[in-house]
Amino acid sequence: MSDVIVSEISAQETWSVRYPVLRAGRPLEDCAFPHDEDQSTAHFGAFYQGQLVGVVTLLHPSERQFQLRGMAVLTDLQKLKIGSQLVNHLEARVVSTGGGRIWMNARAIAVPFYLKLGYHICSEVFDIPRIGPHYVMEKTVG
Ligand SMILES: CC(C)(COP(=O)(O)OP(=O)(O)OC[C@H]1O[C@@H](n2cnc3c(N)ncnc32)[C@H](O)[C@@H]1OP(=O)(O)O)[C@@H](O)C(=O)NCCC(=O)NCCS
Repeated sequence: MSDVIVSEISAQETWSVRYPVLRAGRPLEDCAFPHDEDQSTAHFGAFYQGQLVGVVTLLHPSERQFQLRGMAVLTDLQKLKIGSQLVNHLEARVVSTGGGRIWMNARAIAVPFYLKLGYHICSEVFDIPRIGPHYVMEKTVG
């Protein structure tokens, strides 16, 4: 989808997408993730026709190390390249800060999405309680 605008948003703005896609049926406070409010953390939102439809969060805990987290696109708008645009934007931010390794705990169902974006699996499968099987995936940019 070409008429999507990606821009930086606040931690709390991510909740309207995190909640239905990543935390449905759980308390709303579960939408707050550790380090959301760190000064080095950035949140990006994809807007379609003025509505926030996708979100992703970038953590930058140490030099040249970045974590992607909270990747979500509203169910009705998935597979329209909105997630890809968010990851591209996040990677551009990493490159603009000197580049480095980006990693994430990828839900098993999302592994094909990240593989298409050039990430590779670098762990055994592991379980995150109440969410399911995951793999660590990574990519170096810049
Ligand atoms: C995973 C997710 C963020 C991808 O965003 P999206 O906007 O749907 O993805 P895109 O349209 O940019 O997909 C890019 C490519 O990956 C593929 N893809 C996306 N999600 C996929 C999935 N779950 N399984 C298989 N392929 C997938 C798309 O078909 C597309 O393939 P193509 O290039 O051959 O056309 C989104 O589907 C989502 O929010 N899923 C539920 C929450 C989730 O699992 N988040 C990830 C947590 S780690």
